[in-house]
Amino acid sequence: MSHTEEIEKRRTFGIISHPDAGKTTLTEKLLLFGGAIQTAGAVKNNKIKKTATSDFMEIEKQRGISVATSVMAFRYSGKQINILDTPGHKDFAEDTFRTLTAVDSVILVVDVANGVEKQTERLMEVCRMRNTPVIIFVNKLDRDGKESFDLLDELESKLSIRVRPLTWPIGMGDYFKGVYNLYENKLNLFSANKTGISNDFVPIENLADSQLDDLIGSDAADELRGEVEMIDGVYDPFDREQYLAGEVAPVFFGSAMNNFGVKELLDTFCRISPSPRGRETDLRLVEPSDAKFSGFVFKIHANLDPKHRDRIAFLRIVSGKFQRNTFYNHVRLEKKMKFPNPTSFMAQDKSVIDEAYPGDVVGLYDSGNFKIGDTLSEGEKIMFKGIPSFSPEIFMELENLDPMKSKQLDKGVRQLMDEGVAQMFIQQPGNRKIIGTVGQLQFEVINYRLEHEYGAKCRFAPRNYTKACWITTDNEEQLASFKRAKTQHIAKDKDDNIVFLAETPFLLQMAEQDYPDLTFHKTSEFKLETI
Ligand code: G4P
Repeated sequence: MSHTEEIEKRRTFGIISHPDAGKTTLTEKLLLFGGAIQTAGAVKNNKIKKTATSDFMEIEKQRGISVATSVMAFRYSGKQINILDTPGHKDFAEDTFRTLTAVDSVILVVDVANGVEKQTERLMEVCRMRNTPVIIFVNKLDRDGKESFDLLDELESKLSIRVRPLTWPIGMGDYFKGVYNLYENKLNLFSANKTGISNDFVPIENLADSQLDDLIGSDAADELRGEVEMIDGVYDPFDREQYLAGEVAPVFFGSAMNNFGVKELLDTFCRISPSPRGRETDLRLVEPSDAKFSGFVFKIHANLDPKHRDRIAFLRIVSGKFQRNTFYNHVRLEKKMKFPNPTSFMAQDKSVIDEAYPGDVVGLYDSGNFKIGDTLSEGEKIMFKGIPSFSPEIFMELENLDPMKSKQLDKGVRQLMDEGVAQMFIQQPGNRKIIGTVGQLQFEVINYRLEHEYGAKCRFAPRNYTKACWITTDNEEQLASFKRAKTQHIAKDKDDNIVFLAETPFLLQMAEQDYPDLTFHKTSEFKLETI
């Protein structure tokens, strides 16, 4: 198979949702269609359970599972599909944001009763930043929920994207009769079907056909006719180019649990979703068709096996062909490295691979050489852009409880930060370590791991900052005066960028007013503009 054909057949995407909307269930059904698993229930629920008090040991156990399900590959309809898993738990949102840099498109799952929830909005903001194409799956139609047109309005207004239904539900809850495929003019009649993968499809070319009345009853048939007429009046015909540009999101309705509406989703996904796309670097746009290999690390997972201190770095291949046991350039370290055991992931099985193509994700065993965002290339000194850090929301100062173990502590913290567990900001005087996270859970993770993996003991003292903003300016004088006035709130991030730690949104607003020449960025993505 030619390089172009290898690229063309790949589809790399992520499923995102607010916890409980049905991401795990949908993933499992997609794997069933792809033959990657044989029975429902095979995909362990990867989410960290929603107990209010988190149990770190439970997380540890689940980390094992989440590695297995980090990337799930399967073949369907001539396509090689890679699903990149995203943690549902909000405390791991940062992990999800980074994973989204490695996908080419996204399926967003929305619960028909809950509509757009907070976590969904935030995840979509990240997709919007990179114009990632999005397909929406409205789930749980077997339950009562929001009226379909209202829900579409809500999706448009809260997610700032135009939508275009491609299937349409007939009733819902106890009266759910099925979905009508607006794209192919087919009726799919609902039957609760939790395990199998067969659905009844009836071609209905013309909605006026009385067969429709026979199948779903005259009232439902008339209602459907009216609604379809309305859809055609209100929404423009589906335009693939607009979807690929991230401007329009096609919408599907169904019930993942009942494996209903999932086939339409998957078939359409295979038809319209993008094959691997290029990525910007500091020098140029790298296209998948470029002959030379390049890729970037978007996720690092530590200590898969507690007996071995290995970490696994997840590399997304952007161009060329990756080959086992071949020397590549670790651009940041200016070091040649080769990988004897790169792994791919087919559902829950890991296996060593000899080669991989753009769109693929390979796991590289790592003894501490990689940081999130690192680039590997076939020689060229390029760095991929756009692995942003977002402002943390909780800040604590890390205090060393065992001065004899300072070195271990430093090493441990540095490695955990490389993995992206949290962000560290250094404050002067005294090189004080301020750790910022989006969730409380990370502090438990850091504490536990520092003790168990590095033999260091620490404590966290709360700091009442609520936002970290990266500062850029052309006015050095104003920056110097700002730093003098706000010594207590200035820190540096891992790349020595200056960061303002604000206590309240009001104080940030004041700073913006008082120092008009300084720009306060909410994410480190500003580097995209400045490189
Ligand atoms: P998540 O990964 O997005 O967090 O959601 P997950 O798939 O775990 O689904 C959350 C809950 O919603 C699960 O119930 C799941 O069975 C249920 N669910 C998923 N799809 C549908 C659907 O189409 N209809 C209905 N009625 N429910 C659905 P649970 O009680 O939390 O877990 P379980 O005991 O069923 O595993």
